[in-house]
Amino acid sequence: MFTLDLFAELPRSADERRQLGPGAWLLEGFALAQAVAIVEAVRSVEARSPLRHLVTPGGYTMSVAMTNCGRLGWTSDLRGYRYATHDPLTGQPWPSMPEAFVELAQAAAVAAGFAAFEPDACLINAYEPGARLSLHQDKDEQDLAAPIVSVSLGLPAVFMFGGAERNSPIARYPLQHGDVVVWGGEDRLRYHGVAPVKAGEHPLTGSRRLNLTFRKVL
Ligand code: SIN
Ligand code: FE2
Repeated sequence: MFTLDLFAELPRSADERRQLGPGAWLLEGFALAQAVAIVEAVRSVEARSPLRHLVTPGGYTMSVAMTNCGRLGWTSDLRGYRYATHDPLTGQPWPSMPEAFVELAQAAAVAAGFAAFEPDACLINAYEPGARLSLHQDKDEQDLAAPIVSVSLGLPAVFMFGGAERNSPIARYPLQHGDVVVWGGEDRLRYHGVAPVKAGEHPLTGSRRLNLTFRKVL
């Protein structure tokens, strides 16, 4: 606890690492240099596989809009959560994952101590003001040895990082444009979520926050 509190007091600067757990890191500013290119690539993914508000198995329409690129894409409907090779909205395969995405995700994984990360799925989350992601575990992946690499762009947000149980204590970390969070190893199944995004304007993304979550599913 002392260590985490100490980290929380440190001033922010570009490209700073904060350890959030034994296998979890917040890499501040890690994606800043690639941000323009990534946002452009997200626009071309969106043009082929549009952002949509998925329905959960419980019948709730998510406030976050989602699409995917890569061999597999995460999707949800009344029948459940799953990964699919094709976009259910278009019937087409998901757009392929740009090489620059793979390189960024791999570099972030290495910076957090995870070598040889080969993501096969990139979930793209778009948050308009008020959108939030309630506490959940990423556990639809078969490969739980690989970490999760999560890239934040545009409007800031507050990342809620809990523990192994739904009712574990929750730490809150501000995420800025260009920040990357990586969690794996014994932190792989920690509960996490995103607090409602506050209204604002960002020069690159306008009135929204984008998040790219890289996973190795198979
Ligand atoms: C997620 O858990 O899929 C997204 C997290 C985020 O938007 O930062
Ligand atoms: Fe998640």
